[in-house]
Amino acid sequence: MKESNDVLVPPPYKRLKRGPQVILPKDIGLIISYTGVNKNSVCVDAGTGSGWLAVSLAKIAKEVTSYDNREEFIKIAERNKEMEGCSNLIIKHGDVIKKIDERDLDLVTLDMPDSDKVLKNAYKALREGGYVVGYLPHVEQVKKFVGTLNKLKFRNVITLESIVRDILVREQGVRPSTKGVWHTGYLVFAQK
Ligand SMILES: C[S@@+](CC[C@H](N)C(=O)[O-])C[C@H]1O[C@@H](n2cnc3c(N)ncnc32)[C@H](O)[C@@H]1O
Repeated sequence: MKESNDVLVPPPYKRLKRGPQVILPKDIGLIISYTGVNKNSVCVDAGTGSGWLAVSLAKIAKEVTSYDNREEFIKIAERNKEMEGCSNLIIKHGDVIKKIDERDLDLVTLDMPDSDKVLKNAYKALREGGYVVGYLPHVEQVKKFVGTLNKLKFRNVITLESIVRDILVREQGVRPSTKGVWHTGYLVFAQK
């Protein structure tokens, strides 16, 4: 029988290395679809972590620059970048609370502690209409993040959670599995 882990981490992702907590494909799918990232998009991502989101974006976008302030995680992400052949992914050592070098961006994705403190820099780095996305495990972080977005006059702010259920299809009956991961993170989307 199919294990729920296969649903959360489908085969294309199984070969990727994992260091710090990753963003799972169910949430990556929403990030891609709600921001309309495409072959012309230039993106910044932070923190890189294991690079699961950065690699997924690089497979679609024109260029992705991903920042992390810890060398040991950058090494894991570099391995995943090589394995997936993402030459358009640039992994930089840096602290995005201090600065984001890039400008005129279509998308900034944030998955790191205190990501609300990055929003000022994200605003400066985005083009008009560009998206920022926060991936946040706790509701309290969402409140703070949305409060800062509103102060900075970001618009079209929406907060989502994606819950994916594995449906068992068997002779004795078809029903959702009793196993599974329920909460991963909330996703907050906003436009400059
Ligand atoms: C949960 S991981 C990101 C996982 C990644 N989104 C993925 O899908 O694999 C969070 C990362 O943020 C990094 N980080 C924390 N504070 C940072 C900062 N101020 N600037 C850049 N990276 C930071 C951490 O070192 C860690 O690698």
